[in-house]
Amino acid sequence: MTAPDGYFTEENSAEVVAARTNTDNERLATCMEAIVRHMHACIKEIEPTQAEWFEAIQFLTKTGHTCTDWRQEFILLSDVLGVSMLVDAINNRKPQGASESTVLGPFHLPDVPELPMGSNICLDGKGDKMLIRGRILDTEGNPIDGVKIDVWQANDEGFYDVQQKGIQPDFNLRGVFRTGADGAYWFEGVKPRNYAIPEDGPVGQLMKALGRHAWRPAHLHYILEADGFDTLTTHIFDPDDEYIHSDAVFGVKESLMAKFDLIEDADKIAEAGMDGPYFEVVHDFVLARS
Ligand code: BEZ
Ligand code: FE
Repeated sequence: MTAPDGYFTEENSAEVVAARTNTDNERLATCMEAIVRHMHACIKEIEPTQAEWFEAIQFLTKTGHTCTDWRQEFILLSDVLGVSMLVDAINNRKPQGASESTVLGPFHLPDVPELPMGSNICLDGKGDKMLIRGRILDTEGNPIDGVKIDVWQANDEGFYDVQQKGIQPDFNLRGVFRTGADGAYWFEGVKPRNYAIPEDGPVGQLMKALGRHAWRPAHLHYILEADGFDTLTTHIFDPDDEYIHSDAVFGVKESLMAKFDLIEDADKIAEAGMDGPYFEVVHDFVLARS
């Protein structure tokens, strides 16, 4: 298709660009050839005006300018376009019976302190108390010993500690736990609520322009790591949440629903050592062998 003189035409545009590549890096060459081919096809389909193309460039420029050490607007863009979930799906094809993964999101922190099993991760006492428990199993149903469970959640106003520095204590509603031989985990947190992903930047403006809402259904985040098993990055979701069928970042999967039950029975309250009604969520995770 390349013109004999190598000049660029509307018809041969992608081939001319690809033909300039001269690298031993085969992966780079493959990726760039595909990206250029699809971009040119997209432009040929849309036929943007010069003004429209400049608006697109300005959108990407603003997206870059919105990024800081604490905020990654490009990841948010990838999330709302479903690209993060697609990359996640491609890289986490699981065997039958293993728990499914979902997006990491921008609010995970490394180096969160390890706590004794059963600890309360709510450091400011705000919100409806919730007991979270379950087991970590292999695909044959055996408990897994020594699983590192990294959990984090938004508070009952829908904010993570890192979004409310000076308002919430550092490491509020975060914890790392390790299972024993029975594979069991349990800890106390608060009933999470739904929240809107950051809407005050260019991605928020795009969502509005598209007539889309920015809400995520209430959830808890987990990263589960154990020797000999694939690391699992996932959530559990409240199936009764009003946004359960319209998550702004497409993270919901049927298998990740976990009922958030209100416990009012006096015997159960006493048995759990709680001082009044509380919510409870029970969910087992199954890890795939690596
Ligand atoms: C989160 O669940 O923390 C999240 C995921 C994607 C975008 C924004 C937030
Ligand atoms: Fe979240």
